[in-house]
Amino acid sequence: MNLNDAKAKLESLGQSHLLRYFDELDSTEQDALLDQIEALDPTLLDVFASFRHEGDAQRGKLEPLGALTLSDIAESRDRFENAGLDAIRQGKVGAVLLAGGMGTRLGFDKPKGMYNIGVTRPLYIFECLINNLLKVVEKAGAYVPLFVMTSEKNDEDTREFFEEMKFFGYNPEYVHFFVQDMAPAVDPDGKILLEEKGRIATSPNGNGGWFSSLVKAGFLPLLQREGIEWLNIFAVDNVLQKIADPCFVGATLLSGCECGAKVVAKADPEERVGVLCLEDGAPSIVEYYEMTDEMITRREPDGTLSYNYGVILNYLFRVDKLTALMNDNMQVHVVNKKVPYIDESGALQKPSSPNAYKFETLVLDMIHMQKSCLSYEVVRGREFAPIKNPDGVDSVVSARALLEENGVTL
Ligand code: UTP
Repeated sequence: MNLNDAKAKLESLGQSHLLRYFDELDSTEQDALLDQIEALDPTLLDVFASFRHEGDAQRGKLEPLGALTLSDIAESRDRFENAGLDAIRQGKVGAVLLAGGMGTRLGFDKPKGMYNIGVTRPLYIFECLINNLLKVVEKAGAYVPLFVMTSEKNDEDTREFFEEMKFFGYNPEYVHFFVQDMAPAVDPDGKILLEEKGRIATSPNGNGGWFSSLVKAGFLPLLQREGIEWLNIFAVDNVLQKIADPCFVGATLLSGCECGAKVVAKADPEERVGVLCLEDGAPSIVEYYEMTDEMITRREPDGTLSYNYGVILNYLFRVDKLTALMNDNMQVHVVNKKVPYIDESGALQKPSSPNAYKFETLVLDMIHMQKSCLSYEVVRGREFAPIKNPDGVDSVVSARALLEENGVTL
């Protein structure tokens, strides 16, 4: 894009301030800024305008959704596991590691997966995940193709680390990296921020864009060629989770549902976790802050909470369903965050409280785009040890304790 086109685009969007320092930049920086302006998605500004007027989108009619419980699963374990192992051996199952997040709460300046949670030996978060996946590979006698989503901010570090660590014993031929998209940040008036004089402030656009980014990176032909029908999506930070878990895969396949979600029974009614439920008859996830008191305390005749099953960001999706939905717009969430920016005098400001808004799509919204979802209960202490913070709840400290309880040497 040339300067005149950039000026015209920005003027029509009310964002001409982005060129305020253009004359101070060298030609490489100027070109990079023009590229960013060309890539700017104007619809995000419309999203922000309606967010300012109407707030978040309204929810439909919410109703509880039960789960295939631990005892249901125990009764059919062999049948489920055999079906899952068959599908894995036939190459029908891939896994997608969502590792494009910024991990700001952990406060670690490298990709979160590079964090060493070992005590007497190095043990990296990525290593824990690969170890978990290798158990399935051994059992099935077949590799599970692994797609790793990174962002512009951590792609190089992530790839180099996998190389350096020799893929933690995984066969590199089965590991594919792809980069997610970025989105700009705006101030409360909807003005896009600069993080440098020649750089728009951007951050990863949430974990909901993983499938379109995977396709954009050119992996759809590979999925089709290899006959990969199901993708198991999982977060980088749960070091205990089972990936491509044959029992979960088999149960979902045999259920006939369009997708599957691993869930844990809530520790208490107030637990801050997104709950799998029905919204206007389709599967959906309601966030803890969206639940009314009536929903939080409602119980079934047997005494269990009606909205009982929290999601742990471990889902199975069908590739054909995702491909069909690819052009449907996903909901864009507007989130209030701290974003460093260049002020009108050209000085860098580092705010101590949220000053800006970012745009994110979320993988959990993909659940609502499917007609049916198998809610599959797992044992919290065996499969859920998320690392969000350095200490306290969902932290390095709590995850270490859980790993030890599960026999992992730290
Ligand atoms: P979180 O919601 O914990 O976000 O991500 P985060 O950015 O990693 O961490 P904080 O909030 O800044 O502390 C849940 C999962 O989704 C991935 C993360 O890497 C993690 O596996 N994710 C999140 C992405 O892949 N891309 C994103 O844009 C956001």
